[in-house]
Amino acid sequence: MAVNLPHGGVLVNRLFCSDRFELEVDFALAKRERDARLEPGQVILGAAGSKAVIVDETTLSDLAQIAMGAFSPLTGFMGEADYRSVVESMRLDSGLVWSMPVVLPLTEEAAEALALDDVVILCDQDLRPRASMTVESLYRPSLASDVVRIYGTGDVAHPGVRSTLSRGVVYAGGPVRVLALEDSPPFAEYSHTPVMARALFAERGWRTIVGFQTRNPIHRAHEYIQKCALETVDGLYVHPLIGPTKEDDVPGPLRMKAYEAILRHYYPADRTLLGAYSAAMRYAGPREAVMHALVRKNFGCTHFIVGRDHAGVGNYYGTYAAQEIFTRFSQDEIGIIPVFFEHAFYCKRCAGMATTKTCPHAESERVTLSGTRVRAMLTQGIAPPPEFSRPEVVAVLMEHYAAYATS
Ligand code: ADX
Repeated sequence: MAVNLPHGGVLVNRLFCSDRFELEVDFALAKRERDARLEPGQVILGAAGSKAVIVDETTLSDLAQIAMGAFSPLTGFMGEADYRSVVESMRLDSGLVWSMPVVLPLTEEAAEALALDDVVILCDQDLRPRASMTVESLYRPSLASDVVRIYGTGDVAHPGVRSTLSRGVVYAGGPVRVLALEDSPPFAEYSHTPVMARALFAERGWRTIVGFQTRNPIHRAHEYIQKCALETVDGLYVHPLIGPTKEDDVPGPLRMKAYEAILRHYYPADRTLLGAYSAAMRYAGPREAVMHALVRKNFGCTHFIVGRDHAGVGNYYGTYAAQEIFTRFSQDEIGIIPVFFEHAFYCKRCAGMATTKTCPHAESERVTLSGTRVRAMLTQGIAPPPEFSRPEVVAVLMEHYAAYATS
């Protein structure tokens, strides 16, 4: 397999330049309301009868993914048929595998203000137009039971469940046209579109590429599984998620600094590429692992790493549930090779990195730390040991957390 075909066969492009963007909204009325706080999911009516929907950060990041084709074959927010099919069987209505809903939530009052075939302008909370959408579907999800199917739990302590339940009770679906903004994206240097990533892979002569998703600074276990995978392919695409995450995750900008530090010191430059993935984290464990794989396929990866508790949070998912879910689809349907790793750690007896698959020694010989424990250590000014994290990464994190602790 060489640089991969997009999911569904065609790389979607829903990006439109401002001069081609039909901004028919008269915001005169809306602008007067500007002082009032604009809530996501709310609809604002323009003087000429036009309608604007206020969207949240997650929707903005979804729009960016749809626009550049990272969510191919999606061309907009899911209508009811796709949504129900995805929730129930992890497939779009067409039968194509897709594991997570991508939806536009609305408040009850907003839904009443919209009608089918409306062309609405999607605005951020500062009332800046960001996209237009033709409303092809307006529907009410069965949220209480749907979250259990999607996240495997209805517990509101789960960040994905909480977010889904708080975002709106009616969904609008339809194709979008996303406005190309003039301001540069965060981490512009690393913000590749799938087209750019594919070109960068081709430039380097890579035919097989393994993608790596993370929402944490890279620690030694990450590095170990990445490098084990890289032994068998041409290139490694380190593709950390930098979109909205839960509050206590290490902030994206800090992580980017840590990625730069570790790549500079420990990775072969001609075999490694760092890119920033601007999507929102959903914490949906197994289902999100499938989505993460399909998205990296769209970026041109041929392989994708799935380790322990991929995209998990707390104890909601089995350690290898995110690997087991791939057995529900054929290799052809997924179209990217998942590369599975068991729990990796530093073993004092092996005097090196290993996994539960390759190390025969007792658990007491292992150096492992949870993300929560690492953050607690950092806020107390304690450096995680070099068996857990490279000193260059620790230095970046300590600097940030020291400032944070004294602020
Ligand atoms: S997340 O996006 O999957 O939540 P995280 O940084 O926790 O990000 O993990 C990134 C990838 O590394 C995932 O595939 C995860 O399964 C894997 N991983 C993390 N820690 C380990 C570990 N100790 N052993 C094996 N795989 C791991």
